Amino acid sequence: MRISSWLPSGLLLCLAGDTWARQHRNYDAHDYYVVELRSGQRPEDLSRTLDLHYDGPVGELDNTHFFRAQTRQDGYDHVREAQEELRLRRRRRDVGAAEPHILDHVLLNKKQDLSTRFPLVKRGVIPPSVRQSTVGDPTLIQEGLDIAKTLDITDPIFQDQWHLYNHIQPGHDINVTGVWGQGITGKNSTVCIVDDGLDMDSDDLQANYFQAGSWDFNDQVQDPKPRLSDDHHGTRCAGEVAAARNNICGVGVAYDGKVSACRILSKVISDADEAIAMNYAYQENQIYSCSWGPPDDGQSMEQPGLLIRRAMLKGVQAGRGGLGSIYVFAIGNGAANDDNCNFDGYTNSIYSVSVGGIDRKGAHPYYSEKCSAQLVVTYSSGSGDAIHTTDVGKDKCYTNHGGTSAAGPLVAGIYGLMLEVNPSLTWRDIQWLTVLTAVKIDQESDWSLNTAIQKDFSHQFGYGKADAWALVEGARNWTNVKPQAWYYSPWMHVKHPIPQGDQGLTSSFEVTADILKMANLERLEHVTVTMNVAHTRRGDLSAELRSPTGMVSHIATHRRNDDANSGYVDWTFMSVAHWGEPGVGTWTVVVKDTSVNEHSGNFTDWRLKLWGESIDGSKQELLPMPTETDDDDHDVITNPDVATTSVAVPTETGKPEGNPDDHQHRPVNAKPTESSTVPPKEGDKEDDKVDEPATSSTPTPSATPSANTDRLLPHIFPTFGVTKSTQAWIYGSITLILLFLIGLGGYWYHQRRRRSWLNRDDYNFEMVDRQNPDDDDDHDNGHGRGGANGNGNGHMNGGARGKQGKKAGRLYDAFAPGSDDESEGDAFGVGSDIEDEGEEGEEGKGLVGTGNQRYKDDEPRREGVDVG
Ligand SMILES: *[C@@H]1O[C@H](CO)[C@@H](O)[C@H](O)[C@H]1NC(C)=O
Ligand SMILES: *[C@@H]1O[C@H](CO)[C@@H](O)[C@H](O)[C@H]1NC(C)=O
Ligand SMILES: *[C@@H]1O[C@H](CO)[C@@H](O)[C@H](O)[C@H]1NC(C)=O
Ligand SMILES: *[C@@H]1O[C@H](CO)[C@@H](O)[C@H](O)[C@H]1NC(C)=O
Repeated sequence: MRISSWLPSGLLLCLAGDTWARQHRNYDAHDYYVVELRSGQRPEDLSRTLDLHYDGPVGELDNTHFFRAQTRQDGYDHVREAQEELRLRRRRRDVGAAEPHILDHVLLNKKQDLSTRFPLVKRGVIPPSVRQSTVGDPTLIQEGLDIAKTLDITDPIFQDQWHLYNHIQPGHDINVTGVWGQGITGKNSTVCIVDDGLDMDSDDLQANYFQAGSWDFNDQVQDPKPRLSDDHHGTRCAGEVAAARNNICGVGVAYDGKVSACRILSKVISDADEAIAMNYAYQENQIYSCSWGPPDDGQSMEQPGLLIRRAMLKGVQAGRGGLGSIYVFAIGNGAANDDNCNFDGYTNSIYSVSVGGIDRKGAHPYYSEKCSAQLVVTYSSGSGDAIHTTDVGKDKCYTNHGGTSAAGPLVAGIYGLMLEVNPSLTWRDIQWLTVLTAVKIDQESDWSLNTAIQKDFSHQFGYGKADAWALVEGARNWTNVKPQAWYYSPWMHVKHPIPQGDQGLTSSFEVTADILKMANLERLEHVTVTMNVAHTRRGDLSAELRSPTGMVSHIATHRRNDDANSGYVDWTFMSVAHWGEPGVGTWTVVVKDTSVNEHSGNFTDWRLKLWGESIDGSKQELLPMPTETDDDDHDVITNPDVATTSVAVPTETGKPEGNPDDHQHRPVNAKPTESSTVPPKEGDKEDDKVDEPATSSTPTPSATPSANTDRLLPHIFPTFGVTKSTQAWIYGSITLILLFLIGLGGYWYHQRRRRSWLNRDDYNFEMVDRQNPDDDDDHDNGHGRGGANGNGNGHMNGGARGKQGKKAGRLYDAFAPGSDDESEGDAFGVGSDIEDEGEEGEEGKGLVGTGNQRYKDDEPRREGVDVG
């Protein structure tokens, strides 16, 4: 598909494919631009016009290309400057407004800047080297030996691999030996370890190493060999997944499966390169195992950049022949720092399975984060032991692999077993099976019953632990879930101060059955809440989401180290706690500021997004790629809405009633970004915000040349023999003039209707006002895209109202105080002093080692006090 969209650009590009992916990029010598061009546009045209070197496509991202220039120190942005210059020249009329220009087809321009990347930190924990000298039950030990014999496992440390078969704490393993006994060992499955490399020369990994799925993005060669002294992490993870059954070390969960690797953690890499890595060989690599993320210091709040988010969406949509790449992420080791995986945009992505840890006694280890986005847990370090696996070296083993880093790959390996028995599972089938088969942990926690699926959920353990047997059995006869549908609520404008103390500020939104029917949404899977909260100390804040069933997700928690004064800025929190719920009824967000101090803030706005299984899969479209302005519509206050309104008033039916946005190019599945992308904005949207004329669709001819109307024309319209963009301009102008006239007519018509109905003078009359009375004066914001999706049925309760003070922000303290902090206390004790840099175990030099300061502040490095 990628190739065909470039057909106009000729053979050069068709031949590209793999070779382009292997382009060397030298970020010291060059500035790199990633530019998305409108489909059908030729990258050579931009290259020629701007005198930039064309450097090939950006991985699997559609119509997205690398361009490069000699590096400049002054922060000069070639593409942006050229856009600016064109704008000026058009203003001065040096260039005709209608004269087409390749820059008009630049949808996105991202200069790659390594200096602004937040560090990606490996999620290993170095447990203390004190081993518990517990002696196993002789019967169980014998059983372990028998299992090994039956399966022909002669690997010397297999008996130490308690996570595979635990002869000391029976039942505390992933329950995989029975699966192997059926001959299911991961054949044909491929897990890609996205990390700091994989030692393909290890005798334990060599046999299963999949070179064609591997690439070293740090040193830009094929084999992602560990090259730095602390490049051990990826190899250890790889050993957990697919260490071969032989006489070296132990075995992996999918010991006949293949394992590949993308090496990205050993140097800073660009967003674009990371995006390529996340889709690397994505028809062959099925599962991407990622045991890293932003620092787990309880202060970071980072999400992957737009290109990486696009890559992950592209992965689930097009990877594995469209079944979807499976992304497994370690949830993070920051529990002792009050960190929470919802402050990490990788782990709280709906496209990733977030895996937390439990230790060999089934207890919660001090490091594993609590989080409403956590799906499942599995075994890792704690209670005096860790995961035993392969290490870098010809025949080296490692006995101390720990942290949530070690948990994620075990789940990735189990997924490999599932795909052997049923390769047609989609990325969402995998998540469903994970939820439905998870085994509740026998530990105190904030368990609460999800009544829709009759499974208990805890923020500490997700739905429980992964059971390989249950997952593989469940995979065998699983019927694929229907395609994903979604519903986005309008923005709820709260704009109210948050009271300090245990009370919270609540805002609700009612989802009706009709809304979900319109959205083609049958039952929920993920729920996300995007919100803006201004606060002078972010860590004081917490937020919970209550679903119509009464299920509570603690989507954001208090973080004692988080001093940021930015609050939550367009941040999206995620919850899996509402899995399977119907979604109909009142959803409430409660924002709290529990610390009574000089720091305070305001709850600005929020938007609910429901994701799940569609009603009618055949009508369901794929989610459009995210844009930089996806959640910005609440900021766009001026022209666009006026324009939208005047377009919508004369809706075909001429019915005076109804939401003005109802009939706007809205397919049954309420495609969320369509209305925001239909009038495509200039490439670099952030910078264009102030440039209202360019982003609005008001009937000003000078606003149209940026081809707001491209591709909208059916073939019956004549072309006048001019180029596409000139046509676009002609038709755009005609359309806008017509719409303006119709709109004017509609306005008069409504004025008259309104007067006759209401029988009163209304000088301040606003169409939007009348047609959507609940909107108060926030019509300017709420209608952007949200209103279009809202189908006019949703309305806001309580604090959701606008600024007129009308019931704005209802305060109440109905919810039990402090519920987000309980039960973690004793785990903090020792584990919380993260400064203790000297603590790494002797075998642990790798993780905290030399030469790579960026990743050095790994995570809490000691075992702390075990819970339980
Ligand atoms: C573990 O696997 C065995 C089969 O080997 C199965 O009988 C048992 O039910 C599984 N345990 C759980 C908790 O599912
Ligand atoms: C592996 O996959 C290939 C292609 O999908 C298939 O033809 C083959 O039968 C599979 N092998 C096994 C052992 O499942
Ligand atoms: C799966 O289906 C097969 C036949 O297609 C059947 O024999 C088996 O019992 C089913 N297994 C489960 C767990 O339902
Ligand atoms: C909250 O709103 C009040 C009143 O509008 C304002 O004075 C205050 O600065 C706001 N606080 C923050 C953190 O933005």
